[in-house]
Amino acid sequence: MKPKNKVRSEGIFHLTASEAVRRFKNGKASITVVGLGRIGLPTAAMFANAGLRVVGADINPAVVVSINEGKCRFVDEPGLDKIVERTVKRGYLKATADVSKAVSETDMVVICVPTPVDHNKTPDYSAVIGASETIGKSLKSGQIVIMESTVGPGTVEEVIKPVLERESHLRAGIDFGLASCPERSDPGNIIPNMKTVPRVIGAVNEHCEEIVASLYENALGVKVFRASNPKTANAIKLTENLFRDVNIALANEFALLFEKLGIDAIEVINGCATKYNFMPHYPGAGVGGPCLPSNSYYLIVEGIKSGNIPYLIRMAREINDRMPDHVIELVSEALNEVGKTVRGSKVAVLGVAYKPDIKDVQLSPLERVCKNLKDLGSAVDIYDPMFAGEQVFGIAVKRSLAQAVKGADCIVIGTAHSEFKKLDLNGLSHLVSSPAAFVDARNVATPKEVMAAGFAYRGVGRRFLTPTAEATS
Ligand SMILES: NC(=O)c1ccc[n+]([C@@H]2O[C@H](COP(=O)([O-])OP(=O)(O)OC[C@H]3O[C@@H](n4cnc5c(N)ncnc54)[C@H](O)[C@@H]3O)[C@@H](O)[C@H]2O)c1
Repeated sequence: MKPKNKVRSEGIFHLTASEAVRRFKNGKASITVVGLGRIGLPTAAMFANAGLRVVGADINPAVVVSINEGKCRFVDEPGLDKIVERTVKRGYLKATADVSKAVSETDMVVICVPTPVDHNKTPDYSAVIGASETIGKSLKSGQIVIMESTVGPGTVEEVIKPVLERESHLRAGIDFGLASCPERSDPGNIIPNMKTVPRVIGAVNEHCEEIVASLYENALGVKVFRASNPKTANAIKLTENLFRDVNIALANEFALLFEKLGIDAIEVINGCATKYNFMPHYPGAGVGGPCLPSNSYYLIVEGIKSGNIPYLIRMAREINDRMPDHVIELVSEALNEVGKTVRGSKVAVLGVAYKPDIKDVQLSPLERVCKNLKDLGSAVDIYDPMFAGEQVFGIAVKRSLAQAVKGADCIVIGTAHSEFKKLDLNGLSHLVSSPAAFVDARNVATPKEVMAAGFAYRGVGRRFLTPTAEATS
């Protein structure tokens, strides 16, 4: 291949690892972060906070404007707003919609664009491919491209590398560096996680791995696990998330089984957790968010291509995806117990975010709970402290818990937000349309206290007891 673009003799990939570290330490290194969302914005802000010159590039002009005003749109990421405000004010972080220009002016490019799955559960890599085409067109010899977006094993080598090489007429590992450093942070804790959780890096060659590892070690102060190649780094990222998804599915399976056997699954899991080698996972309304519900499919697709179908991973997805229907079953049972039906009842869903204390409903299982309840003829009210007064799933979220619960025939706990862990159950019992039902899909209250407040109780994985049986148990 003939190099087309101008050679940058000072390109960081052409430096020795110790020269690159000097560049990181003396604040002369520069980075473009492509995609300024939940992951990209804190990544850009943390690199800027470490004294690197950072350009954040995003195709959404509104995102660019707000960041250049020093504003942060993620209200649930403690500490991020201050870092964005400070780094923008001091000139270390600026945003642009011109991805090409940003790439042409910096040493390194970090890709943080979305990688969802489509309605057929097939990974949609159009954003990473589109971003790579734009990056490739401006890429110069000596630059390094780092993939932080979550992709299937082999995607960097077989999809992204060819796109970058085709567009730049340069060779990965010779003219420019290419590495994977999948993001492992937990929404709601992204800033503390970025400072402490070790990074996994897999690069096209050892020299690139050395420079990229020293970037994360020096700028973020974290340890680095060096994987053999990008493919292995991405397999590590997926395996840790799939481990969680499969374990939650197992907890959900125990819940469904033990409910029928009259055994309390939460008690069983808590009992098991007293053993040294048991890792407790708890059942619930299902699994949501941008990672767990989709990450399995990146691996399932690769498995099928290789002729090895990952049955357990696929089955775990099915079990977790079925949990919203089980919540509806519990709502129906509990309402029947007080002589009511789903049709014609008012149901107050408390919490719709996919995770406690997070303002995010991406792939939240509560969307299906709300939709199915409406389809079955319930009037659904939502209260979620993160979305008070906003529209979610086409429903206007009430401004207070009391507004949502007033006159309700059934309360459903959909998300274990902090506010719901200290519910005044007796107070709620005076607001509902008595007799009323209470379905706890997140284990925020004990069956005993809910029933003592006069509700017909059901909980995912909880032993079903009538008020009389509970009094004598
Ligand atoms: N959110 C999480 O909890 C989390 C955790 C770990 C890993 N990840 C992974 O990180 C990646 C990014 O996810 P996110 O949650 O930050 O997404 P997000 O939707 O919050 O933000 C993505 C941003 O990228 C921008 N964008 C889209 N296409 C672009 C393009 N071609 N060029 C420039 N900008 C573009 C969008 O405008 C948006 O601002 C995904 O692969 C995701 O799976 C996410």
